[in-house]
Amino acid sequence: MPSTAKSSASAANHLTIPATWYHDAGIYKMECEKLFYSEWLLFCHETLLPSPGHYVAYTVAGRPILVLRGKDGQLKGFHNVCRHRASLVLKEGHGKTEVLRCMYHGWVYDTNGDLCKAPGFGGDEKSLCDRTSLFPVHVKNVDGLVFICMAAKPPSFEKSIGDLPAALKGSGIESFKFFDTAAHPLKCNWKTYIENYMEGYHIPILHPELNRDVDMATYKVVPAERIARHETGLKPGREKEAANTGLWIWLWPNVALNIYKNGMNLEIVNPTGPETTELRYCYMFKDLSKEAEPENRKTIDLSFTVTRQDIDICEIVQKNLHAGVYEAGELSPRHENGVVYFHDLVRAVHAKPA
Ligand code: FES
Ligand SMILES: [Fe+2]
Repeated sequence: MPSTAKSSASAANHLTIPATWYHDAGIYKMECEKLFYSEWLLFCHETLLPSPGHYVAYTVAGRPILVLRGKDGQLKGFHNVCRHRASLVLKEGHGKTEVLRCMYHGWVYDTNGDLCKAPGFGGDEKSLCDRTSLFPVHVKNVDGLVFICMAAKPPSFEKSIGDLPAALKGSGIESFKFFDTAAHPLKCNWKTYIENYMEGYHIPILHPELNRDVDMATYKVVPAERIARHETGLKPGREKEAANTGLWIWLWPNVALNIYKNGMNLEIVNPTGPETTELRYCYMFKDLSKEAEPENRKTIDLSFTVTRQDIDICEIVQKNLHAGVYEAGELSPRHENGVVYFHDLVRAVHAKPA
C-alpha cells in the first residue's frame, strides 16, 4: 500500500471489511462452509414447482442441488450427485420429469431420493437399492419462497428469515405468476454485488434511468432483523411512469426481492467462486395477459439496464479490491448504513468457530 496515502477514517464512521475478504480463496472456502453450507438459503420460487415431477436444479455455491415436488405433493431437496460415480442425476435447469434417472449410467431414484433401479449393474440390485439414497437437503416453503439448507442440523428457520414475513405483509407476492427467468454471470465476489445492492448512494451517478424516478432526498435503507428495506419517494410527476415504486427488500445473505407495482424480480446472488458470481433472476407478474405485456416488458427492460450498470461497476470495483492498493474505506453515515449492517453479519460469520 502507498505509504503516503492519507487515511480518511474517523472514529465516528464505519470502515468496510478488508479487501482480501473479496478475493482470497481460503476466505471464500470458509464463507461457503460457515455460511452457504450451514444457513437457510432462498433457492427458487414455488411457481416453478407446480405439480409432482417438477424440479429445479442448479449449483449453489459450488454444490449442485435439486428440489422437486414429490408424488405426495411435498417439496423435497437433494444434492444432485449420483451415489454411483458422482454424476449430476438431472441436468441443471427446471422442468418436469417422470423419474430421477442419472444422466451417466441410468440409475433411477424415486422422488424420495431412494435408489429403485440400477439397470445392468449385475450382482444384488435389490440390496444395492436398499442401502442407497441421494443425500438429502432440508426444504422449507414460505409464501411460495422455497428455501434450502444443506446442514445436517439446520439453524432455526424463523430466526434465519428474521423480519422478512413482516416486511412482505400486504405485498401481494402470493398472487404473482411466473413469467421468465434470467441469469447474469459476474466477475466479482458475491459480497461486492450485495454491497452495491445495499445502498442507493450510487443511483444519481450510475443509474440515470432510475434517477429519473427516485427522489434521493428521501431515499433511505432501513435495516431490520436479517433484512434491509429500501424506502424512497418519487420525483414529482413520475408517479405514473415509474416502474420501481414498490418494495426492495434484501434478505441475508444473498437474496433481493424487488417488488414492482406490477410484479416482482426475485434475485438470488449465487457465489460461483472467490471472484465470480451468478445473478439468478425470476420475474413474476400479477397479470400475464396480452394487454399487460408492454408494461411487464418495460419492467424487465429497466431491470436489465440497471443490472448491466451494476455489473459493470462491481467488476471494476472487484479488480481494484484485488490490486493490492486499497485495504478498506470509510462508509457514508447518510447512505451506507445497509452496508454497515451487511458487514456486521459478514464479520459474525468470520468470527464463528470452525
Ligand atoms: S454416475 Fe449415476 S449412474 Fe453412474
Ligand atoms: Fe445499482
